[in-house]
Amino acid sequence: MNIILLGPPGAGKGTQAERLVAERGMVQLSTGDMLRAAVAAGTPTGLKAKTVMEAGELVSDEIVSGIIGEKLDMLSADTGVIFDGYPRTAAQADALDTLLAARRRTLDHVIELVVDEDALVERITGRFTCAKCGAGYHVRFKPTQVAGVCDACGATEFKRRPDDNEATVRTRMAEYRAKTAPILPIYEARGLVSKIDGMADMDVVAGEISAILAR
Ligand code: AP5
Ligand code: MG
Repeated sequence: MNIILLGPPGAGKGTQAERLVAERGMVQLSTGDMLRAAVAAGTPTGLKAKTVMEAGELVSDEIVSGIIGEKLDMLSADTGVIFDGYPRTAAQADALDTLLAARRRTLDHVIELVVDEDALVERITGRFTCAKCGAGYHVRFKPTQVAGVCDACGATEFKRRPDDNEATVRTRMAEYRAKTAPILPIYEARGLVSKIDGMADMDVVAGEISAILAR
């Protein structure tokens, strides 16, 4: 099973991918997470990506498709993949077709999380993650069970993303509207797109995704 989670910043792609990984043993390929790891490690890719990401703009198609290809090569053929935040442009959608075909993988579903952009600013500015294991939280919508302690690993250090401020979020949304939303018709023409109300409760969204994957 190979699926794409598509939606603007804060739509819930990472949140839902994390659940699919835990519940179904699928692998999450998040280009955002991979790029942040490259920035943290100070690799040549990370050095190129850092300022672009902090501005809320898109990193080059060559870089992201290159890292997706490398990650796919590390997986066994029967491992299900969730593409989170990739593809984001028409060129990336083309590249993904080539990458999948070369590995005899087919795309099963493109799930669009439909959301209200204004509400997303609150989601993004309230988001934080565990500094040790990366588990994702939200000050209002998904707080830790014990204040200041990660539910998943017990760590007490948390972090926030440098691009999670209102000004940058607006740029990220504009990038989504201009470059990413236009790729939906490519997948609609293939009958792959299912639309979900991403403003619903996280559990409801997860239930709808499970129903789509069971089809
Ligand atoms: P990336 O990391 O992909 O960020 P994004 O697309 O902006 O999306 P987010 O991670 O912000 O949102 P999400 O949908 O995962 O939401 P989440 O589940 O965390 O990309 C970052 C940057 O990297 C880009 O701007 C670009 O520069 C670069 N980049 C990455 N991929 C690229 C590519 N392919 N090409 C070029 N450049 C690329 O949820 C958000 C918050 O809301 C959380 O706190 C969560 O707890 C909460 N929440 C989630 N669901 C719900 C719900 N149903 N109800 C209430 N709260 C909820
Ligand atoms: Mg994410």
